[in-house]
Amino acid sequence: MSAEPSSKRDAAEVLARCDVLAEISAAVDGIERSYLTPEHARTNWTVGEWMADAGLTAWQDAAGNQRGTLAGPTADAPVLLLGSHLDTVPGAGRYDGVLGTLMAIAVVGRLRDRGVELPFGIEVMGFADEEGTRFGRTLLGSCAVAGTWDDTWWGLQDAHGVTMWDAFRAFGLDPERVGDAALDPARVIGYLEAHIEQGPLLQDADRALGVVRGIMGARRFDLEMVGEAGHAGGMPYGRRRDALLGASEVVSAVEVLARDAGAVGTVGKLRAFPGAMNVIPGRVEFSLDLRAESDAVRDDVWREIEETARKAAAARNLAFEVSEMHAARATKVGESLALAIAEGIRATGDAEPMHLLSKAGHDAMAIADLCDYAMLFIRCKDGISHHRDESVRPDDVEVALDAFEAAVLTLAEQYS
Ligand code: GLV
Ligand code: MN
Ligand code: MN
Repeated sequence: MSAEPSSKRDAAEVLARCDVLAEISAAVDGIERSYLTPEHARTNWTVGEWMADAGLTAWQDAAGNQRGTLAGPTADAPVLLLGSHLDTVPGAGRYDGVLGTLMAIAVVGRLRDRGVELPFGIEVMGFADEEGTRFGRTLLGSCAVAGTWDDTWWGLQDAHGVTMWDAFRAFGLDPERVGDAALDPARVIGYLEAHIEQGPLLQDADRALGVVRGIMGARRFDLEMVGEAGHAGGMPYGRRRDALLGASEVVSAVEVLARDAGAVGTVGKLRAFPGAMNVIPGRVEFSLDLRAESDAVRDDVWREIEETARKAAAARNLAFEVSEMHAARATKVGESLALAIAEGIRATGDAEPMHLLSKAGHDAMAIADLCDYAMLFIRCKDGISHHRDESVRPDDVEVALDAFEAAVLTLAEQYS
């Protein structure tokens, strides 16, 4: 048996491993690790080694998720899921998803080193695609585990025209077997995920940790304005069909309409075609990411945005096209699992843990179709995330490990 766990040493190891995965996935503009790529394969292999070190049986499932299993006391013992995701956005930081996955592995290692016998099995999840970077559709890995994979996704294409089906095959996965990744809900107790906050509220409140109370519902769209390209000098204003001017009206309206309703809307991608200094943009492709605590509010805002876009298009003689890439309902945490997270935080000396709504999306949203979930948030510097400057404090990771481990032990007591 290894030495008694030390939170400082374990946190240092988790952070050093975040650095290793960042090196594996270093791209020109920072870290990028998207679904079914060579970086994904190398990351799974490396994380699989760490899972094995912690006493887990490591394996890659039929959707490319990296999983590690710790058997329960009996063959039919229930299973607790722990984890987060291993993929990233382009230009990512080191901790979004990765920290939660590596913390889950570290907690299993600590329990093993303490000689704890749990009344349930554990499965650590390194979900393969939470961000949706490559195919536009997000939460792919966790949907496969929740049994909600949708066969219409096979035709989705990446930026190079590679379909999801072909990408599966190139990665060595059999698309016909994706259903094998799904878990039986009857076997699963719940899912616990640790994650950086990706917002500034914990820092503003001078707290290291928080309990998530729910996750905003999200919808994502690919949008297009189509007009006509033309000469930037010769074509009079009255005759132009400038697609970028139409799209710009929508981009500005997104901020106003979402903000007024208490929702959040972001246009993160925009490309004008043909994309030349002296050509009127004939076509613009842009995206919309829309989130709110209530699905009804989010859907109302979308209707207003769509109406604004159609009016702007009509006024400029443009066509407006919409393709919805993703929809995930707003979810609430499972009461008893969230109590265990709060109990875990209390065990670290914070008598009244702060509760927060997650505005960021998480695998837990998809896993909510399989079982209850709860989440532990960890302070990140200035709330910066989806950016190379993502940063966490080692002492926060130390208490986060203690709290996450204590949450698992709280559940173990309940199931004993
Ligand atoms: C995931 O990070 C999301 O909230 O988009
Ligand atoms: Mn993210
Ligand atoms: Mn994340």
